[in-house]
Amino acid sequence: MSLYNIRLEVMLTLEKSIDSFVEKYLIKPEKIWQPTDFLPNSQSKNFIDEVKEIKELSKELEDDFWVVLVADTITEEALPTYEAWLLDVEGVSQHNKDGGDNGWAKWVRAWTGEENRHGDVLNKYLYLSGRVNMREIEITTQHLIADGFDIGTARDPYKNFVYTSFQELATYVSHNNVAKIAHKKGHKLLAKMCKRISGDEMRHHLAYVEFVRQIFKHDPSEMMLAFQHMMKHKIVMPALHLRHSHGQKGDIFDQFSIVAQRLGVYTGFNYVDIIKKLNIAWEIDKITGLTSEAEKARDYLMKLPERMYRITERIVIPNTQYTFKWMNQIS
Ligand SMILES: [Fe+2]
Ligand SMILES: [Fe+2]
Repeated sequence: MSLYNIRLEVMLTLEKSIDSFVEKYLIKPEKIWQPTDFLPNSQSKNFIDEVKEIKELSKELEDDFWVVLVADTITEEALPTYEAWLLDVEGVSQHNKDGGDNGWAKWVRAWTGEENRHGDVLNKYLYLSGRVNMREIEITTQHLIADGFDIGTARDPYKNFVYTSFQELATYVSHNNVAKIAHKKGHKLLAKMCKRISGDEMRHHLAYVEFVRQIFKHDPSEMMLAFQHMMKHKIVMPALHLRHSHGQKGDIFDQFSIVAQRLGVYTGFNYVDIIKKLNIAWEIDKITGLTSEAEKARDYLMKLPERMYRITERIVIPNTQYTFKWMNQIS
C-alpha cells in the first residue's frame, strides 16, 4: 500500500472520533466568550467614557508593544488563509463521496469559528486605542491574505498537524506574554482579553497534539519522519509575508520578529522550548517499532532542543528603531 493511502486510512480512522474531538476541545458559540465581553458596549451611555479610558491607558504602552500587538492581530486576521490551507489537506474534504458531511471539514469550520473571534476582538481594541494607524493595518492585512503562505507541509496531514501543534502553542506564548506586559502597565482589560485568547490557543494546541498522538499509534515511523521534516525545515510564522503599503512581500517580517524578541513576547528560546514540549507530549523517547530511518529521526529530535538552545544563546537581538507605517499618524 502506498504511503498516500496509509495517510488517508489513518485520517479516515481518526475522523470517526471527530465529534468527540469537537466536544472535548472546542466550545459552542453560546458558551464561549465573545469579543463584546471585553469591549465597551456601544449601546451604553458610558460608551464614550470607556473609550476615553482605553485611549488614556494606551498612551502608557510603548511603540514596540503596539507593533507586536498589530502584527499579532494581522496574523489572526489572515484566518481565511489558514482555513483554506487546512481544507486542502489530504483526508480533509468538503465533499464526501457519499454526499455526507466530512468530519475533518466540520472540525476545520468549528476551529475557524473560534479563531475568528481573536482577530475580531484585537482589531476592535486597536481601533479604540487611538495609538495606531488603522488604514495601514488594514492594507497590510489585505496584502497578507492575498499573498497567502506556504508552510512547507504540502497536503500531508502528518506534517500539517505538527505545524498546527507547534503554531497554536507559539500563539499561546505570544498572546500570554502580551497579556503579562499589559497587566504590568495597568492595562487590565487588554491583559484579560489577551489571556483569554491565549487560553483558546492552548486548547487548540492540545487538540492538534492529540491528533498527532493518535497518528503515532497507527503509523509511528511515518509520523516520526514527518515531525523531523518539519523541525529540519523550521516552522515558518504565518505572518512571514508581512508587508507595508507599497512594500514588497515579506519586507517587514524580520523587523517585526526582532521587535517581538526584544520585547520578550516571542523569542528564539520560546521556539526551542516548544520543540522540547512537543517531544515530551508525544513521548518521542518512548516510541518503539520504528524503521531504522525513523529511529534516526527520533534521535535527531531528542537532541534538537539542546543543540538549538546553544545556537540561540549566541544570537544578538539588535536594538535598532524601525519605522512601522502602522504607527504613523493619519494625516
Ligand atoms: Fe488565534
Ligand atoms: Fe490558534
